[in-house]
Amino acid sequence: MIDTSCSIAGVAFKNPIVMASGTFGFGKEYGALYDINKLGGLSGKGLTLHLKAGNDGIRVAETASGMLNSVGLENPGVAAFLQEECPRWESLDLARIANLGGNTIEEYVEGARLIDEDAAWRAQAGRQAVDMIELNISCPNVKAGGMAYGINTEIAREVVRQVRGATTLPLVVKLSPNAEDIVGMAVMCQEEGADGVSLINTFSAMKIDIYKRRSMFDNLYAGLSGPAIKPIALRMVHQVCRAVTFPVMGMGGISSTEDIIEFIMAGATVIQVGTHNFVQMRAGEQLVAGLEAFMEQEGISSLDEIRGIL
Ligand SMILES: Cc1cc2nc3c(=O)[nH]c(=O)nc-3n(C[C@H](O)[C@H](O)[C@H](O)COP(=O)(O)O)c2cc1C
Repeated sequence: MIDTSCSIAGVAFKNPIVMASGTFGFGKEYGALYDINKLGGLSGKGLTLHLKAGNDGIRVAETASGMLNSVGLENPGVAAFLQEECPRWESLDLARIANLGGNTIEEYVEGARLIDEDAAWRAQAGRQAVDMIELNISCPNVKAGGMAYGINTEIAREVVRQVRGATTLPLVVKLSPNAEDIVGMAVMCQEEGADGVSLINTFSAMKIDIYKRRSMFDNLYAGLSGPAIKPIALRMVHQVCRAVTFPVMGMGGISSTEDIIEFIMAGATVIQVGTHNFVQMRAGEQLVAGLEAFMEQEGISSLDEIRGIL
C-alpha cells in the first residue's frame, strides 16, 4: 500500500505534486484536459490587489532547455479572483493556493486581508476555496526604485511580518533565487511566523534581438525557468531544508518522476511543476502516475522514508 500524502500547516496534499503559479491559470483550462483533482495542489496565477494588464511586447521566448518570461503579472485583481474563480475552486478536491504579489507593502497587506476575509465568510457557510496563501516577494518594490522585495532579507522581513499579521490562513513565502542570501531569507520567514517557504522563482536573465539591436523584452530582463535551472534549484532547496525546520515546497525545472524524487530527497515536503506544463499539457497526471509507479517499483510505502535522506 503506497501513501503519497503529506501536509503543510494542516493543509492536506494527497500527493506532493503541485502546479506552479503562472503556468496553470486557475486550473480551468487544464481541468478541461484531465481530472486535476488527481493533483496534490495548484497555485493560481499570481494576483495583485488591482487588475494588471501585464507587460507590453514579447512575453515569452524559448531558450536551450528552458524559457524566458516577462508576463508582468497579468491578472484580474484579488476581488475579481474571489468573485469569479473561487466559486469553482470551492468544488475542487486538491490544495488550493492563492499566489499573491504587490508593488507596495500596503498592496500586499490589503490583498492578504481580502483573501482572509473571504475565507472567513465562506467558512461560516461551511465552504472553502483558498487553503493557503503563497506570498510572491519577487515583485518590484516601487518605493525602492523597482528592486524586488525578495532580494534583501530585511526589506522582505517587513512584507512577511505585515502579511502574517493580516491573515490567519496558512502562509508560505515564495523565494527568489536572485536573493542576496536565500538561506537567510528562509530563516527570516520562519522567524516571522510563516508556515513554510516555496523556492525557486525564476532567475533574472536576458535575450537580445541582434537584428533590432535591443533586448527581446520591453522590460530588459526576463525570468528564466525550466530544466536549465533544475540543478541550481535543487542545490538551493537542499541548503534551505538544512537551515529551517518548517516545510519547503521545492521547484525549478521539474519535468520527470526522477526530478521529483531528487527534490524530496533534498528535503522538500511537496514540489511544484511550472514550465513543464507548457511542454506536456498533461504533465500533472503523468507525474502523479509516474510517482506511484516509482514508489511501487522501489518498495517505498511513504515519502517520509526518503524525504531529506541525503
Ligand atoms: C510564464 C510564467 C509565469 C509565471 N508567473 C508566476 C507568478 O505569477 N507568480 C509566481 O510566484 N511565480 C510565477 N512563475 C514562476 C513559476 O511559478 C516557477 O517558480 C518557476 O517557473 C520555476 O519553476 P519551473 O522551472 O518548473 O517553471 C511564472 C513562471 C512562468 C514560466
